[in-house]
Amino acid sequence: MAGMGARLVAFAAAVLAAATCAGAGVTSEYRRKLEATVDMPLDADVFRVPPGYNAPQQVHITLGDQTGTAMTVSWVTADELGSSTVKYGRSPDKLKRTAEGSHTLYEYFNYTSGFIHHCTLTNLQHGSKYYYAVGFGHTVRTFSFTTPPKPGPDAPFKFGLIGDLGQTFDSNSTLVHYEENGGDAVLFMGDLSYADNYPLHDNNRWDTWARFVERSVAYQPWIWTTGNHELDFEPDLGETTPFKPFTHRYPTPFRAAASTEPFWYSVKIASAHVVVLASYSAYGKYTPQWRWLQDELTKRVDRKVTPWLIVLMHSPWYNSNNYHYMEGETMRVQFEQWLVDAKVDLVLAGHVHSYERSRRFSNIDYNIVNGKATPRPNEHAPVYVTIGDGGNIEGIANNFSSPQPAYSAFREASFGHATLEIKNRTHAYFAWHRNHDGAKAVADAVWLTNRYWMPTADDA
Ligand SMILES: [Fe+2]
Repeated sequence: MAGMGARLVAFAAAVLAAATCAGAGVTSEYRRKLEATVDMPLDADVFRVPPGYNAPQQVHITLGDQTGTAMTVSWVTADELGSSTVKYGRSPDKLKRTAEGSHTLYEYFNYTSGFIHHCTLTNLQHGSKYYYAVGFGHTVRTFSFTTPPKPGPDAPFKFGLIGDLGQTFDSNSTLVHYEENGGDAVLFMGDLSYADNYPLHDNNRWDTWARFVERSVAYQPWIWTTGNHELDFEPDLGETTPFKPFTHRYPTPFRAAASTEPFWYSVKIASAHVVVLASYSAYGKYTPQWRWLQDELTKRVDRKVTPWLIVLMHSPWYNSNNYHYMEGETMRVQFEQWLVDAKVDLVLAGHVHSYERSRRFSNIDYNIVNGKATPRPNEHAPVYVTIGDGGNIEGIANNFSSPQPAYSAFREASFGHATLEIKNRTHAYFAWHRNHDGAKAVADAVWLTNRYWMPTADDA
């Protein structure tokens, strides 16, 4: 009898284990080394000032309109004002066209920026390579970019997905891995330089960060989201204008998207309609962002032209890490129903310095008295990805809640980046890459099917 009892216990344990495995998400225990993050020193080669008098530095581009027939080029000159002109064309030898930009500068406590130039190149052809040059009158530097394909339902495109990058040795590893994987543009989920972690928000670290990422963002557009490290709100220093360094340095095409502030806007790249939300700007009912998003989702999204509806934000709504737990909750309460109604495909967030991917879940039934506060599977809901694992100085977020919630499909405390390869109107391949592996190694992946054209169960 004793043997029978033991076998029954073993059988019951096996059944229980199988049942748990069938529905449970994965908390990866993968570790190759402890993550001690250290900022690269000021004399690191990636921060090098380009040679030549008044040479343009910190060159970066982003879309100058919603679809990429315009591109805004930004750069800094440090010795004197110099020229805000960009010459550009289809051949590096014949930069036939000229665009005149403008410049700005700003002071932050005891720091004065260089001359920050912004110049928008217009009337570009979709899907075309352009060369451009800046620095006329002193040291000229030439770069190139390829405009995205014209928006259309089956236009393929490969996005890089990066958040919370910072400027540590791990940040550099993230960027190297992304470059080897070769996306066409980056969706950046906020927290760029982490300059505000330095005494007096040392804005020289905004300059070093921009020199560090130039090798990518001078050649392909990065789409910016604002994070808490862009706020730079410091009354003790007399700095009470939120986002001051960011707004001087990083323009966004918000006016083309019918927005009234640079922090929330949208772009239409190939077959994707990308909505950028601002976690640190007002979003309550009747606020400008609230009104803009309502119109955006109900009037301006056309899934027949851009099937893939992607939303970016900094603070995640579905995060089962104890780090920054529930910080995105007020925005989720405000907007989740709209996103489910709009059948959003994918929501990308940063802020939490680890990686997590959700199943298609929603939590929209609760009405303060009915007790229905548990997230439930919902085929119309987005997949939520937290990808604040770019490698910044604050280190890894290695404290997941236990047990893993049902909505959480995969989570791991490693630095990395992801790519989203949109193939056509029905299929896109999402892949997350941890920095400890070679760039081509995939640590987590899922084929997403489009919520408008092919809303099949894709989140197992
Ligand atoms: Fe953050």
